[in-house]
Amino acid sequence: MGKINVLGFDVANLIAAGEVVDRPASVVKELLENSIDAGASAVTVEIQNGGVTLIRVTDDGCGMEPDDLPVAILRHATSKIRSAADLSAIGTLGFRGEALAAIASVSRIRIFSRPAANEMGTLLECEAGRVTSVSEVGCAAGTTVVVEDLFYSVPARRKFLKRDATEAAAVSAVVERIALSRPDIGIKYLIDGQVRFITTGGGDLKETVYSVFGRECANRAISVFRADGGVTVSGFTSEPDLYKSNRNMEVVFVNGRLVKSRTIMAAIEQAYRSRIPSEKYPVSVLNVEVNPEAVDVNVHPAKLEVKFSDEKVIFDSVYYAVLSALQSEVARPELRFRGADVPCEGAEEAKPDGAKDKGSFWIDGDEARRLLSAFVPADTKKTRWEQVRITDRPAPGKEDAPPARGGEGTVAAGAENVPPAGTPDDGRSVISDPGPVDPPEYVILGEAYNCYVIVQFEDRITFVDKHAAHERIIFDEMCRNARRAEKNAQLLLSPIRVDVPGYEGETLADYGGEIRSLGFEFSSVEDGTRRSVSITAIPEQLDRDEARELFTTLLSKLSDSTGSVSSASAAYFESRLFQSACKAAVKGGRKYGIEHIKWICDRLFVKNGEGSVIRTCPHGRPVAFEIKRSSIDRQFGRLE
Ligand SMILES: Nc1ncnc2c1ncn2[C@@H]1O[C@H](COP(=O)(O)OP(=O)(O)OP(=O)(O)O)[C@@H](O)[C@H]1O
Ligand SMILES: [Mg+2]
Repeated sequence: MGKINVLGFDVANLIAAGEVVDRPASVVKELLENSIDAGASAVTVEIQNGGVTLIRVTDDGCGMEPDDLPVAILRHATSKIRSAADLSAIGTLGFRGEALAAIASVSRIRIFSRPAANEMGTLLECEAGRVTSVSEVGCAAGTTVVVEDLFYSVPARRKFLKRDATEAAAVSAVVERIALSRPDIGIKYLIDGQVRFITTGGGDLKETVYSVFGRECANRAISVFRADGGVTVSGFTSEPDLYKSNRNMEVVFVNGRLVKSRTIMAAIEQAYRSRIPSEKYPVSVLNVEVNPEAVDVNVHPAKLEVKFSDEKVIFDSVYYAVLSALQSEVARPELRFRGADVPCEGAEEAKPDGAKDKGSFWIDGDEARRLLSAFVPADTKKTRWEQVRITDRPAPGKEDAPPARGGEGTVAAGAENVPPAGTPDDGRSVISDPGPVDPPEYVILGEAYNCYVIVQFEDRITFVDKHAAHERIIFDEMCRNARRAEKNAQLLLSPIRVDVPGYEGETLADYGGEIRSLGFEFSSVEDGTRRSVSITAIPEQLDRDEARELFTTLLSKLSDSTGSVSSASAAYFESRLFQSACKAAVKGGRKYGIEHIKWICDRLFVKNGEGSVIRTCPHGRPVAFEIKRSSIDRQFGRLE
């Protein structure tokens, strides 16, 4: 006798349901997505006991006709697609006709629904997948779904639920993200009767970020927008010094759908490399819009993953969108005093006359000399203080003078008027010729611990980590030079052999031309079942080991779609420069001539070619922070 059974309808349904809903958070996600598909402009989500005893989602969407309600909870019942052809360009969040069936089969569910044009609504009640009653009710236009006793009919699954607080946190993560995906929908979220957040539905993403992630994230969010090659990337990403220890706040939507996309997350993180410490992650809320035909949403049972027809185009679009947003952002982190926002009594009277007059707080003449002699290392005291007060910046053309020698080959040699990096002052003047353009006025007050340079501007005092600042200046210069450098190849006497697994062979066939344009020359070698590549020329700047590493990094990044040839090779060259920049930079804790410090400040306080200021060293540590003068005044009770 045969051993194979065809499972009964109920068991088959339960198995299918398990793929769609595995915890309260997945139920909430499905219900919210249904409300969005129904065109709702306001949705209320409420849970009790982590969503295990109650989930209620109320919307003001299109509602369902009385006849449709019993059908809605059947498997494969959907109003969103009709035929297989529709699967190729899905414009709604739902399309499988599975969600309500799955939820209904594992809970007690009640659905109240009324299209606005109908006078009366319909109530459908259902237990463990069986309809127990359908009746006419008076209810608001739209739909309310009430799910009670989740998994009461599936004890095996219920056992796996975590503590209520943990389940509630997972639900919150879903509601937050979906709220962020639709700033145009007002979402109210309650846990055990307490309102967690309300979004206005006004359509402003920043306002929604404020409601959901709080003030700090909203204030430190940088807008992202880039539309190119059929891909539009929009949203927000955090200033580099606001980061988290996990990826929970990297929120990604594709055509408005909440997804987990390795490609997109890798692109975001790559843009932050050299801006935030390793193992730290930014706060990002990004929507990637692509032609629906270029993305397959039907690849994951819970619709959480998508597949792009060309992952690399998506990677590059996101990478460059985030990168240019980061480059255009200007402010440095500000150090605030505790309680600085609280006005002091009598502050008004204490405010000095003409507090706004720049002269009243510029330290000049003797005062500056006294301060300088207190801070500046002994060997630089001979420097005339006027050299320290900076009212000009290097002449155009000189500005890009390479800051260090002896580090990496990419730094042009022969710059005479730069500090000899990494060595103490050798007495040479390092002040560049004054230039006429747009001078940032500042005074170097001195240096604390031979490490932190204290710089006074009209409206703020800035503390600069001289090593970190110099490191970033050198690093940026090296990167610029590397980008400008011609991609020359050096021929190898003996070729490098690299094993290539089968799937990477395809990549090589597709991207061989681009890889060659970096300076590689190679040919495939078939050796029985083993496939390898023989590399006969490598980019000029690399040695054999580095070239091998770059080649294999490119292959693996291209194969798993976490980079394109240009972005992956740029990242590789940059990572090599980290080390050299660090070695070449002046060292914290060591004395250097004031001229060297000025040289660094000159470059630190001007905007670079991309219009941004330097914020972090290449390892992601901050280079400078500032204290607003108003903050200091407030602290002394001089200003309200
Ligand atoms: N809140 C709602 N307002 C109006 N109609 C709804 C609502 N929720 C569900 N429906 C109707 O019920 C149908 C079934 O919903 P269900 O979530 O099971 O499937 P789906 O959304 O079509 O696909 P998926 O399984 O991918 O979510 C929907 O196609 C829609 O017509
Ligand atoms: Mg649905």
